[in-house]
Amino acid sequence: MSSGIKVTAPVTISNINCGFDVLGIALEHTCDEIIGREHKKPGIHLNLVGPNARATPADPAKNTATVAIMKMLEFLGDSGKVGLEINLRKTIYPGSGLGSSAASACAAVMIANELLGRPLEKKMLLPFAILGEYAADQAFHADNVAPCLLGGVIMVRDIRLLDVHRIFSPPGLYITVISPDVQILTSEARAVLRDTVPLKDTIKQTANIAAFVQAMHTGNFDLLSRSLQDHVIERQRSALIPGFDEVKEIARDQGVLGFGISGSGPTMFALSQNENVARDTGQAIAAYYDKKGIETRTIMSLVNHEGTVLC
Ligand code: HSE
Repeated sequence: MSSGIKVTAPVTISNINCGFDVLGIALEHTCDEIIGREHKKPGIHLNLVGPNARATPADPAKNTATVAIMKMLEFLGDSGKVGLEINLRKTIYPGSGLGSSAASACAAVMIANELLGRPLEKKMLLPFAILGEYAADQAFHADNVAPCLLGGVIMVRDIRLLDVHRIFSPPGLYITVISPDVQILTSEARAVLRDTVPLKDTIKQTANIAAFVQAMHTGNFDLLSRSLQDHVIERQRSALIPGFDEVKEIARDQGVLGFGISGSGPTMFALSQNENVARDTGQAIAAYYDKKGIETRTIMSLVNHEGTVLC
């Protein structure tokens, strides 16, 4: 049996306050990895391993990795012809707000592409990863899969047109993520959202997303800080996260540039210009949750510019 090839896909945070379903960042922290090899029997042979394997659907019709590969094989006309063995190591718990389902889908399409002799360019794998993630949350959005696959800070204008762009990220931007031990499924966190947004909030949100892009391109951290506000989603979802308002105050007191919900939560993130601020914020919030008897995991990272990679 061949030793196989390995792909890793990073943790991502999406929305970034003002960019619901539009903005996402890849972190320098592995979310999922896949070791894959050809299999003599046609079909996708999935093995789930790692600390969070049991929390991940083993049914190929519900697993984002297998769905993404099936969609890709259909497109290539290879369904039922090739056999692929996919050993998926889940490091991050699904439902944590760190792009766990997206990472499985991205790692899957990348490894399948390699095993098939690389018929597609990396960006062309994106639609299949989006379809794979749909299996997890029944929603089409690319604000986790696009940064996860391509790396960097990504803006998604239109997923059908693959109108997805990398935004320049100034050096020295630190990301802290804090995950309380609570599970929120994206489908549930989307179900709480109202369908309509008042015009005044739309104006504020649009202004902030424009300011975000300008601030990133010019390295204007003061403008970046002012742009990191969410007038649409946060107040509808924050009740799902224990202590959210207090924790936001703690982060502000530490001097972060911005603080918010990572994707659909419960993970929260802070952006900082200073490594000490990033570290102290993680520690202060972990101490808050510790007093409440809630376990947390924290990650501190710079922006990952590679995305999903072959190792
Ligand atoms: N933009 C999506 C949401 C990301 O917030 O529902 C889910 O991880």
